[in-house]
Amino acid sequence: MSVHSSSPVRVLLALAGMLAAFLLPTGPAHASAPLRTHAAAKGKFIGAALATSPLANETAYRNLAATEFSQVTAENAMKWDSTEPSQGQFNFSGADAIVNFATQNNQQVHGHTLVWHNQTPGWVQGLSATAMRSAMQNHISQVVGHYASNPTVVSWDVVNEVFDDSGNLRTSFWYNTLGQSYIADAFRAARAADPDARLCINDYNTEGINAKSTAIYNLVSSLRQQGVPVDCVGFQTHLAIQYGFPNDFQQNLQRFAALGVQVRITELDVRMVMPRDATKDATQATYYRNVVNACLAVTACAGVTIWGFTDKYSWVPDTFSGQGAALIYDENYQQKPSYTAVHDALAGGTTTDPTPPTTPGTPSAGNVTSNSASLTWTASTDSGGSGLAGYDVYREQGATDQLLGQSTANSISLTGLSPSTQYQVYVRARDGAGNVSANSALGTFTTTAGPGGGGCTAAGTVQTQWATGYVVQPVTVTNTGTSAITGWTVTFTLPAGHTLTGSWNATLTVSGQTVTAKNLAYNGNLAPNASTTFGYQVSRPSGNTQTPSGYTCA
Ligand code: XIL
Repeated sequence: MSVHSSSPVRVLLALAGMLAAFLLPTGPAHASAPLRTHAAAKGKFIGAALATSPLANETAYRNLAATEFSQVTAENAMKWDSTEPSQGQFNFSGADAIVNFATQNNQQVHGHTLVWHNQTPGWVQGLSATAMRSAMQNHISQVVGHYASNPTVVSWDVVNEVFDDSGNLRTSFWYNTLGQSYIADAFRAARAADPDARLCINDYNTEGINAKSTAIYNLVSSLRQQGVPVDCVGFQTHLAIQYGFPNDFQQNLQRFAALGVQVRITELDVRMVMPRDATKDATQATYYRNVVNACLAVTACAGVTIWGFTDKYSWVPDTFSGQGAALIYDENYQQKPSYTAVHDALAGGTTTDPTPPTTPGTPSAGNVTSNSASLTWTASTDSGGSGLAGYDVYREQGATDQLLGQSTANSISLTGLSPSTQYQVYVRARDGAGNVSANSALGTFTTTAGPGGGGCTAAGTVQTQWATGYVVQPVTVTNTGTSAITGWTVTFTLPAGHTLTGSWNATLTVSGQTVTAKNLAYNGNLAPNASTTFGYQVSRPSGNTQTPSGYTCA
């Protein structure tokens, strides 16, 4: 049974589209065609969140928004504080501008968002339960109703971010005033206002299989069993290269698909600790490619929307201090490696490159200090057509080798190494199609002892915990040597199944279960006996009370 009936307008439009497809020349998408051409060939949408002001004022912004994307989401213009700033006073000027732009460019609009705890005016938050429920129903009915007969607007985020990271319903003013029933009521009101619109629940930190995504899974399953019209689940996918990629993303999408809902990536961006460099860009590109490939691999995944497209306009620097460069064009509208990754993933299958790059030369070390070294090697070549994408540098460690770094050039500077330690390292090359070369021969070097018997220690304390997570604060880093240190690197191991969800006062990167924490600019200098601290948060399978171990400092 389909939950969607089709209005006569939509049937006519669908017929017109089929006719156009019949009349227009067809054939494989050209390799350099825009993203939307490749996405359409795969039966998916590729979307972007649009901001009202550059859309009105910048030609370059408008042109890319129109040509590259087949779907748009209003970054802010459809939120409650824009559409109903005072009770009963509706203002659709910003929202209409985006919808009209989309109509002109043959794009679909995903409505974002009806019921959220943020960007909702104070007048809503202070209402009594009865008044709040009817204000919510009226808001949904007016906003969804405004676009119900407009075929450009096809779907809505009905509720946004209703869970906290430990998988409990968020104690927002909605929940505190109305209890859990507001969620089902919101979906019913949206269905009543537009029986044809696809209705979604949307959230963040739900890409992997974890307590929060499982809570959404259980809620969607139970709402649908009760006949509540939930058609779709949105995964915001605000990722950060320093926290690792959720490798079970595709598996997670697939388990939701098995509930009978559509899934979609709704707010993709991949931020990095600034400044941007080629290595971070390459890692970011891998994340983008993985996300697009996960959606392509799951039939029920309708498409991928990026939260903006140019680094000139992104919420990241304002929200995550010291981080940025999260999108696929730079601030001058130049394509980044992340653009190429999205493009090539969407275009995958139209050009095939089965040939891996040649094996890189043996890495040789120079400028070896107590905690750093530079490596160079003879470059690989790639003849398969997709081109050389970069190199991965590993430390040989027996069963699981450690990724020391990535580079797009045939050299790398390694930092954060341990003093008086022998390193055996090898390099392998990647191409644009994801083919990997054989490992190079091993290069060997030994770090020096370090000035003045320098050394440091680290130890962490669990400050608070709950069933599905905990905070480690402080991790105390102490200079136990006799001379000052100018930077430190702490490593520790997370128990199996535990994942890092946040950190402060250090930059954390994750490889497998090994976490590497490096000082920030302001807390790297430690005089002998001086200490500094950082902290982090972890989510864990409910009730698994193991804690991180094996703190080392160098
Ligand atoms: C963000 C916008 O990008 C910012 O411009 C605004 O100031 C705050 O909201 N999850 C969501 C989005 O669902 O609505 C948020 O958008 C980003 C996080």
